[in-house]
Amino acid sequence: MSMNYAFGFSLFLLILVALNIYFFYTLNTVGLKSHKFNVPTINVDLTSTVFKEIYDYLNYLPSQYKTINSKFGSHQNILLNSFNVSKNIKIDTIWSETQNWFNEDSLFPHDNGTAGKILHAIQTTQIALVDNAPKGTQLKLLLLLEGKQKIYFKPKRYNLNHVVNGNIYAGFDRHNSEVFAYYLAMVLNFRWIAPSVIRKIHLHKDVIPFATMGLKKTMIKNGNALCIYGKCFYCKKNETVCPDQNGEIEGAAILYLNKQLKIHKTPWRRSYSNRKMEWEVDNAFCKKVKSSLSTKLLLNIIDVAVFDFLIQNGDRHHFEVYRDKIILLDNGKGLGNPTVDELDILAPLYQCCMISPFTWQRLEMVSGGSLTNTIKILAALHNQNLATEEHFKAVERRLLKVYATVQYCIGKHGRAKVLKNWLI
Ligand SMILES: *[C@@H]1O[C@H](CO)[C@@H](O)[C@H](O)[C@H]1NC(C)=O
Ligand SMILES: *[C@@H]1O[C@H](CO)[C@@H](O)[C@H](O)[C@H]1NC(C)=O
Ligand SMILES: *[C@@H]1O[C@H](CO)[C@@H](O)[C@H](O)[C@H]1NC(C)=O
Repeated sequence: MSMNYAFGFSLFLLILVALNIYFFYTLNTVGLKSHKFNVPTINVDLTSTVFKEIYDYLNYLPSQYKTINSKFGSHQNILLNSFNVSKNIKIDTIWSETQNWFNEDSLFPHDNGTAGKILHAIQTTQIALVDNAPKGTQLKLLLLLEGKQKIYFKPKRYNLNHVVNGNIYAGFDRHNSEVFAYYLAMVLNFRWIAPSVIRKIHLHKDVIPFATMGLKKTMIKNGNALCIYGKCFYCKKNETVCPDQNGEIEGAAILYLNKQLKIHKTPWRRSYSNRKMEWEVDNAFCKKVKSSLSTKLLLNIIDVAVFDFLIQNGDRHHFEVYRDKIILLDNGKGLGNPTVDELDILAPLYQCCMISPFTWQRLEMVSGGSLTNTIKILAALHNQNLATEEHFKAVERRLLKVYATVQYCIGKHGRAKVLKNWLI
């Protein structure tokens, strides 16, 4: 009798559970739009289905995205003219032109050869003073060049063919990623970024005679060489930067931004632990963000997500904003592993499904290899090789995924909604 009772009760429970599942299913598939029922939102990780759909679009990407777009030619010429300059440069005038520059569209001057002049000046001007950079998590020097121009110097930690394994923010900063990011931004017409170029500094000729006491205190003998361990959050005495066989230290030399910046947390930041962030479990996350951010800033965040996805920088936990626009600052966590494409860096794009029409127009223009080819040509003008062929190919592969993601959005919401002429 009691067995029968237990059996009956179990059956009853089973039916109840089945009914519940049925109702949840129907409510989530058809009932939600009517808003009649007060359904508790269940947070399901939908990322994998989104990825699957994006990859479906990737498989059927229109051929225009795999061929060169003739519209880019004139833009490429403008870039070449900005960067290809003769070497006769008056350093003082270039620094004053740089420091006094004020423009709504670009942080620094670049037209008529100025971009190339600035890079040449950063690469070659005599150093007057060297110190540890005051802030930051990674070893970085602050150089004062003749003519009173400050430069950040991020030393090389890896060879170009070194593959950084582990999570998306693993490892030291990559100096080449900083410089690559600058050229990438120029080609994509993102002008809120500081000029950056590879420079080599000689430890005994360029650094020691001009080093502050503070910097000298963070140098240590490593075998026969004198090396720098620096002063920063993650700096350790056993993780030094040493000169190469020519006595030189290579690094990214980045123009110092002498501006007041506002710092914001990125809504799509990572937890840096096993904990999942809200955006990782809720594909409707964008709705929440939309209500608290201007459309202009949101489109800007999406631009930055595309930019970061191309180089695989998954470490943009904060935004520095200057005059209402995000500055592309700190791009050293890109180009870690050419075989990895972490699609979730694009979350702002596939969760909001909107993109600035100017950005999209430019992205469509650099198809078919133009993007990385232009970066190569521009970098070569200042004798730089910024990445291995695997990395250049990876950036092109990721560009196709950006196209596919926008196609996915257009397929889901229609072109007008995704590319609405947002008031910006
Ligand atoms: C740069 O300019 C020089 C001289 O004006 C020219 O010969 C050269 O072809 C240019 N290089 C590129 C890549 O446009
Ligand atoms: C570049 O040069 C052209 C022609 O000499 C001039 O019209 C234009 O104003 C210059 N641009 C800048 C930003 O100086
Ligand atoms: C340096 O020492 C720290 C412990 O202080 C250790 O975690 C780290 O792995 C060491 N780095 C190298 C390159 O050996």
